[in-house]
Amino acid sequence: MLVSAVALIIVAIFTTYLRKDSVLRDPKSKAVDAVDPIIGNGGDTPNTSGGMIPSTAPPFAMTRWVAQTRENFVSMTPYNVSDTYIHGFQGTHQPAIWMGESGHVVVVPGAGTVRAEFAKRGMSFDRASEVRMPSYYRAEMVAVEGGKIIAEQSATSRVGHLRFTFRDTSTPYVLLEATRKSVVASNTSDLTYPAGAINPSNWTYPAGRILIDSSRREICGSNPERQDFILGPNPAPSFAGHFCARFDRSFLAYGTNQNGSTHAGEAARNGSLLAGYAMFAPDTQVLDVRVGVSFISVDQARHNLDSEVPDGTSLEATARRTRAAWAEKLDRIEVEGGSDELKTVFYTSVFHALQYPYEQSEDGRYYSGYDDSVHNGESYTGYSIWDTYRAAWAFQILLAPERVSGMVQSMLQDYKEGGWLPMWKNIVETNIMVGTHADSLIAEAVVKNITGFDVDLAYAAIYKDATVPPEHDDTISYYDREQGVGYEVRAGLSTVYAQNGWVAADIHSESGSRTLDYAYDDYALAVLADHLGKADDAALFRKRAMGAPFMIFNEETGFMEARFRNGSWAGQEEGWTEGDMWAYSFDVIHAVDDLIRVRGGPQAFVRNLDEHFDKGHNDHANEPSHHIPYLYALAGAASKGQERIREVARENYNTTAAGLSGNEDCGQMSAWFVFSALGFYPVNPVSGEYIVGTPFFDKVTIRLPTAQALLVISAPGATSKPYVKSVTVNGERLERPVLRHDQIVNGGNIVFEMSDKPQPWASETLTLQ
Ligand SMILES: *[C@@H]1O[C@H](CO)[C@@H](O)[C@H](O)[C@H]1NC(C)=O
Ligand SMILES: *[C@@H]1O[C@H](CO)[C@@H](O)[C@H](O)[C@H]1NC(C)=O
Ligand SMILES: *[C@@H]1O[C@H](CO)[C@@H](O)[C@H](O)[C@H]1NC(C)=O
Ligand SMILES: *[C@@H]1O[C@H](CO)[C@@H](O)[C@H](O)[C@H]1NC(C)=O
Ligand SMILES: *[C@@H]1O[C@H](CO)[C@@H](O)[C@H](O)[C@H]1NC(C)=O
Ligand SMILES: *[C@@H]1O[C@H](CO)[C@@H](O)[C@H](O)[C@H]1NC(C)=O
Ligand SMILES: *[C@@H]1O[C@H](CO)[C@@H](O)[C@H](O)[C@H]1NC(C)=O
Ligand SMILES: *[C@@H]1O[C@H](CO)[C@@H](O)[C@H](O)[C@H]1NC(C)=O
Repeated sequence: MLVSAVALIIVAIFTTYLRKDSVLRDPKSKAVDAVDPIIGNGGDTPNTSGGMIPSTAPPFAMTRWVAQTRENFVSMTPYNVSDTYIHGFQGTHQPAIWMGESGHVVVVPGAGTVRAEFAKRGMSFDRASEVRMPSYYRAEMVAVEGGKIIAEQSATSRVGHLRFTFRDTSTPYVLLEATRKSVVASNTSDLTYPAGAINPSNWTYPAGRILIDSSRREICGSNPERQDFILGPNPAPSFAGHFCARFDRSFLAYGTNQNGSTHAGEAARNGSLLAGYAMFAPDTQVLDVRVGVSFISVDQARHNLDSEVPDGTSLEATARRTRAAWAEKLDRIEVEGGSDELKTVFYTSVFHALQYPYEQSEDGRYYSGYDDSVHNGESYTGYSIWDTYRAAWAFQILLAPERVSGMVQSMLQDYKEGGWLPMWKNIVETNIMVGTHADSLIAEAVVKNITGFDVDLAYAAIYKDATVPPEHDDTISYYDREQGVGYEVRAGLSTVYAQNGWVAADIHSESGSRTLDYAYDDYALAVLADHLGKADDAALFRKRAMGAPFMIFNEETGFMEARFRNGSWAGQEEGWTEGDMWAYSFDVIHAVDDLIRVRGGPQAFVRNLDEHFDKGHNDHANEPSHHIPYLYALAGAASKGQERIREVARENYNTTAAGLSGNEDCGQMSAWFVFSALGFYPVNPVSGEYIVGTPFFDKVTIRLPTAQALLVISAPGATSKPYVKSVTVNGERLERPVLRHDQIVNGGNIVFEMSDKPQPWASETLTLQ
């Protein structure tokens, strides 16, 4: 009798669990189920700063919600898998580990005495209790005064939806933190944790606002924190993240808390170190709170709350909607063959590549930090363009073209309001990295038939990048994270680049990288000029694009090398960013044939590539190495490249929290994996071509939103056979290892014949036994 009662209870618990689990897995999607949001967090591995947080939010969401295990700042994300305490749930706008936070909000459940300070409010949690999905997160925490708090979370683009269950706790409360002690620094040595965090000269105290309306069960407020304010030319003085949290229960009591002191019954306060709280009846077991956010105003945050997650919406309904948004994108690709691990890395990569840039507009309006006012239009921010122009953008054009026009419009608005296209926009321009690769993003979009933006305006903006140097160009070095300077754009353009063809190492930082990057950007301009029938411009900028890279090729050493203004060599270590002479000596993506010739012809070039890989110079954790394995195919050694591509994939991607060898860089690391797994990669993005590599799956079927027909990539045996014997596109044999965008974007059949031995296909440079 007793035994069967126990069995019944077990069955009841189990079915409840299953029912709940199936609610969270609705709609069904094997692709979404394969995603593991912890991959690439970095965790404990030293310097493995994948920097991805296991957040809940839809694709390209304005705000991502995450359990807060640390206080985030530049070089520190709010969640670290090695931490054991949760201090709240953060609606974050930090787009990458090397960028600052902007206008975030933190929701902190607690019980008993109100504890607002970060160090005092942390609750230990059971890692095994964590459920991490793109649409839902759950953790069980031990409340500070005893008992348990179970937190569940989902989110739409502008609303965080949380549910707290209190078990055997003191009187429940929820705190909304508006402002905190923030950490700023621009010198990377000040950013190394915990040095930056404990150095008081790097602390700031942004002053925000709390407004409590107990009749509406709301705690609202504003947070003007923008950690990157020390960078770039746009002060954005009225920037703030606004929020409005609404609870499903009446307040028993409420108040504010500033710098650890509680002001019971107070409904409004301004200042630093500020939070507001509401307490609930002691017998409250379940509490639901939705937090609307806005960059425009508190009223807009409330409006976003009402329109995205109206009163009465269950957390399950919010989670289902966000899951459906991911399924809508991820289900466009179906993979077959390959281990579960390979599928997890693949779909997590797709998940990562569709997070940035993120929505900055609300209801067709957006706050612009460039001119500090609100405009009509669609806007995005979080553009890590130096990274994403390589493959992440190409992937978004292929899989999410419906977003691309708005993303380009957003860049053109930045140009109208600030005078320049973005380089690295984190709310406003931060001048991070080098080159004006928005030129490439736009030219590629045009070449790939994306419409819906003003192409003439785009041409004017790109032309300006190529012809107008920054202010004080011959006296400011524009070193990395230099403070107090204007728009960096093409620093070094006036002094030497436009005349002799290189950026001078004695005037500008990172001058070798700049020279090569500017040459590619000139090429992007030439491509767009051709497209618009501007033949003279096209000829002029193509000439500069083809000449400049080889102005810094030192024939004596056989490597690229930065040069001084007077023309003499600056030294092999000089002038590189996120790479060295090895990587940069392969960095002429728009003139690979010329590069091969200059480096001694195909045989010598393949030997150079072998040396680069065999001696450990390929650094896939940084972007300048990403296209290098694909150069083998362009030198007639495709089979060697196929080995390298498999090796890079194996060594730099896996399903652990440390499973991304480098910073995700807003999706570029993952886009490399996705394209490589499909079997091709956009070495020169504005060419509209992809270089053939080695597909990882037996079969991939893609429902491209632009195509009537499915794109089917078949490669039977690919998981164990890395070498390509032949390729056909819609039945026609591919002679060169190059696919054109129009051979992909309309759907069709690409058939790879795979082998476990090196093959002569596209490998004429090699003498095969
Ligand atoms: C996570 O925390 C550990 C321990 O403090 C630290 O070594 C590691 O660098 C952190 N990882 C990231 C990505 O911040
Ligand atoms: C981590 O980075 C620091 C600073 O860049 C460097 O000094 C250190 O050698 C790196 N550690 C490892 C294990 O790579
Ligand atoms: C951070 O602290 C260091 C060391 O005191 C100081 O040199 C630097 O200027 C500070 N950075 C900022 C942005 O205040
Ligand atoms: C916060 O309070 C501490 C004393 O508890 C005081 O030393 C500190 O200056 C206060 N900070 C601010 C920013 O008001
Ligand atoms: C907070 O600041 C706002 C805007 O400056 C002002 O209108 C409001 O009266 C202030 N509230 C309090 C409580 O000081
Ligand atoms: C060229 O400029 C560099 C850096 O200013 C200087 O060290 C070098 O001596 C100059 N070379 C000649 C030949 O003038
Ligand atoms: C996963 O990848 C990381 C980064 O490339 C690497 O350091 C780690 O050893 C790999 N772990 C496993 C289990 O393969
Ligand atoms: C762009 O559209 C034109 C006209 O429809 C078509 O001829 C061309 O092939 C398309 N280009 C690509 C890359 O799809």
